Amino acid sequence: MKKTIALLLGGISSERAVSLKSGEQVYQALDKNKYEVRRYDTKTDIPKLVAEAAQIDAALILLHGPYGEDGTVQGLLELLDIPYQGAGVLGSALSMNKLAAKQLYEHCAIPSPAYMVLKRTDQPDPDQLAARLGLPIVIKPTTGGSSIGMTIVRTSADLPKAFEKAFALDGTVLAEAYIKGLEITASVLGNDDLQALPLIEIVPDQHYEFFDYEAKYTAGATQEICPARISSALTAKAQKYACQAHQALYCKGYSRSDMIVRGDEIFVLETNTIPGMTATSLFPQAAQAAGISFGQLLDRLIELGIQAHRNR
Ligand SMILES: Nc1ncnc2c1ncn2[C@@H]1O[C@H](COP(=O)(O)OP(=O)(O)O)[C@@H](O)[C@H]1O
Ligand SMILES: [Mg+2]
Repeated sequence: MKKTIALLLGGISSERAVSLKSGEQVYQALDKNKYEVRRYDTKTDIPKLVAEAAQIDAALILLHGPYGEDGTVQGLLELLDIPYQGAGVLGSALSMNKLAAKQLYEHCAIPSPAYMVLKRTDQPDPDQLAARLGLPIVIKPTTGGSSIGMTIVRTSADLPKAFEKAFALDGTVLAEAYIKGLEITASVLGNDDLQALPLIEIVPDQHYEFFDYEAKYTAGATQEICPARISSALTAKAQKYACQAHQALYCKGYSRSDMIVRGDEIFVLETNTIPGMTATSLFPQAAQAAGISFGQLLDRLIELGIQAHRNR
């Protein structure tokens, strides 16, 4: 019997366009001999999803950022008793919040860049901040993604403008020490029994200051090298941190942690609970390198979601 899959896509976050693209490619890749696939844009189709909930075997959430990756949609699916791929309400909410994630990394001895937390009502002294963290400093909204609202600040005089940009999106902002090094991303597959996939090295074209929105989504703007060109010892360390981060943040199914390697040190930046899912996105690429095709990956994520739902 075919399984009925609800593909949740679109939504209302700033990553709507990315979500529609992922959703379309996932739709194409899902094996129609196994699945009947129904698409729901969470911007307009939530009433329809609620009405049809009893007919759905599992959902694939292809929404990034707030109202999709942050536990809200996961909560709705829990209420509707629909299994879904990836992290549950808790893991999604914790991972979406870069401050909560960093606190749990610290608790589990997973290294991440030094940071300070700033509230909109604070009056941060730029020179004091620069003295505490050293320059450059990365200013980022606590919640969000795709590098939106983020600035790399090189002189303390540029801090106020960077804060303004980040505070426009979030009442709490992180100021983080900038780590100069090689950027990698580490993918993990599994609920409790975790498989670390090959690492991908991320090399944005020279004219991008960092892996920003454009570098992320412009075709050819970034070289993605798999496996990452680092030693086997560093590879093992990064994979270990990725598995530890997955567990520390109560993730399920899959996750992808972004990291920077500086010499022998590795710093974890964040953990993504709904990584990009176009066929050429980072997670599917890592899976491919481990011999798992895009279609097989989707099968596996659906299975893991149903399993997690059963074991709740
Ligand atoms: N502390 C840091 N040091 C160096 N580069 C950083 C740092 N934080 C973020 N970046 C750069 O910004 C990009 C986006 O940051 P990240 O924390 O992964 O947020 P998101 O991907 O959710 O927007 C990273 O991929 C990296 O290129
Ligand atoms: Mg990232």
